[in-house]
Amino acid sequence: MNRENTNQTSDEFVVTPWEVRGKVDYEKLMEQFGTEPIDQPLLERIEKHTGELHFMLRRGTFFTHRDMNFILDEWEKGNKYHLYTGRGPSEQIHIGHLVPWVFTKWLQDKFNVKFIFQLTDDEKFVFYEDLDLDDTHSYAIENALDVIALGFDHKKTEIIIDTDNAKTFYRIALPIAKKITFSTVKSSFGFDNSTNIGSIFYTSIQAVPAVLESVRQGKNVPCLIPHAIDQDPHFRLARDVLPRLGYYKPASIQCSFLPALGGPQGKMSASDPTQTVYVTDTPQTVKKKITKYAFSGGQMSVAEHRKKGGNPDIDVSFQWLKILFEPNDKKLDKLEEDYRNGDLLTGELKAILIDKINNFLENHRAEREKARDRLDQYLIQD
Ligand code: TRP
Repeated sequence: MNRENTNQTSDEFVVTPWEVRGKVDYEKLMEQFGTEPIDQPLLERIEKHTGELHFMLRRGTFFTHRDMNFILDEWEKGNKYHLYTGRGPSEQIHIGHLVPWVFTKWLQDKFNVKFIFQLTDDEKFVFYEDLDLDDTHSYAIENALDVIALGFDHKKTEIIIDTDNAKTFYRIALPIAKKITFSTVKSSFGFDNSTNIGSIFYTSIQAVPAVLESVRQGKNVPCLIPHAIDQDPHFRLARDVLPRLGYYKPASIQCSFLPALGGPQGKMSASDPTQTVYVTDTPQTVKKKITKYAFSGGQMSVAEHRKKGGNPDIDVSFQWLKILFEPNDKKLDKLEEDYRNGDLLTGELKAILIDKINNFLENHRAEREKARDRLDQYLIQD
């Protein structure tokens, strides 16, 4: 399979673990996937335990889930869950990847729970023709630095690199793989007879971190997976299979995608440098990309903008501030209002975003360099 392979889920948009294309209708996706909306009672239930709601919950970036109430039921009985998320290391990190990780950090801080992060260098090797195992392994190391840079406490956080941790993983993956048929993965992932058998096996590996703690502790430990919604097919399958092996179904909480620079459609692709900002981009590059490529909801001329105002709902700079870079509701509301009524120009909005991103990245780059010496504190040793 190459990076262009598709699996159409609807006429207008496609969301699979390998591809997101078109203008995603998240309501429809919830229906297709069969996940639950995060409604007011659930938000209140979460807030009861966290004392406040993260802005990604308040603003609906995390909008859907499976079994959050189970996680909270168990929590209230004193049964701690653990967190799990991951990354397929095919590229350097762009800021869209940070959305679920920033949220996971918040959950870890609020609930004081263990977090397992999986780097699937095996996955990216078997799925992408143009990557060899050395490439995906070195991206795994580089991507691990970005996770650590977000401030996860090494006493509560473990990072797995699949090819380095095969000894731990293989024994757990095999019984899972034994319960999954070729026909199931074909229909779940759109595979056919030409799909390589590494890809067919892979989903069993992505299920392992969801039960790793249960295996280690010798009793069932609930698992909560914060992730972008495109990964749901893997976990739908895991939820089907794991109870048949005596484990709990993993729960999940799922977010939408940070829009690509060129327009609020789909998720940004790490392989198109004009559509995204990498965590390693220099301040000049960030400025150039936002100025040149960020889709504007503003009017053609200043005079017209002052008169008619802009549309923050389709303005990518505003959306990036809303989703990731402006946690303060008051400040965000003011920007929205000023933009809508024409007091704030697109150029001014972009300047605010450029500043926010560059401040964030300056700190992030320093932290990820410091993380090089601390990698061993996080990596699981087989
Ligand atoms: N398959 C994911 C990707 O391609 C990587 C991954 C592994 C993952 N485990 C996960 C993502 C758990 C989210 C949650 O990026």
